[in-house]
Amino acid sequence: MLHCPIVKRLVVAVDGPSGAGKGTVARAVARALGYRHIDTGAMYRAVAWRALHTGVALDATSEMAAVAARAGFDLGDGVIAIDGHDVTSAIRTPDMDKAAALVARNAAVRDVLVARQRALGAEGGVVMEGRDIGTVVFPQAELKIYLDASQEERARRRAADPAHTSSRTSDVAHVAQDLAARDKSDSTRSVAPLAQAADAVYIDTTGVPVDDVVARVLALVHEKAGAA
Ligand code: DC
Repeated sequence: MLHCPIVKRLVVAVDGPSGAGKGTVARAVARALGYRHIDTGAMYRAVAWRALHTGVALDATSEMAAVAARAGFDLGDGVIAIDGHDVTSAIRTPDMDKAAALVARNAAVRDVLVARQRALGAEGGVVMEGRDIGTVVFPQAELKIYLDASQEERARRRAADPAHTSSRTSDVAHVAQDLAARDKSDSTRSVAPLAQAADAVYIDTTGVPVDDVVARVLALVHEKAGAA
């Protein structure tokens, strides 16, 4: 007789500020587990990009929600497309940082994207990264991680990130300034601000090699999956 161990496929929520290492860690954890990696920040960015390219004003509340509701997302491994447009690198510029932060303040857009994110994670087997995954999108997630790092280290990482395409991104002082402004916008907005869920595991990644952070998260996943 065949013995098929039933391994529970969890929802792993990864939240934290910009440059904390969410993308790198979430992608590596998903790959190691054979889970799907969902970058929810890319969804806010892609909606902002789509609006800018179809002439919808970023502050037009209901029109923006309609853009988010109509959008066809392709969130493949490392590739982000919206309505057939590959926007993988176009959404990682300082202008798009600002546009996405503005769109993320729109409660109507959030309602639409949160519903879509819940649908994407409904079956489990996902590592979903963002700002409100453990608090709003999946408050019942089996494992919640809150990644953080010092402001200096986050700015350094962002400046060195080749995915962020701009001449300004090599200037750490400018990057630090932009990052601080965006952190403030993300953590003080009235809807779903960046916050650590009470039951999240806090990991400070300052000076910690990525592999160590990934190993720690994988150990937590195995602990939770074993207990489920
Ligand atoms: O993670 P990121 O920098 O790509 O996110 C882009 C913007 O969207 C940023 O301002 C934070 C915001 N965001 C959010 O409000 N909620 C999420 N779940 C993910 C991102």
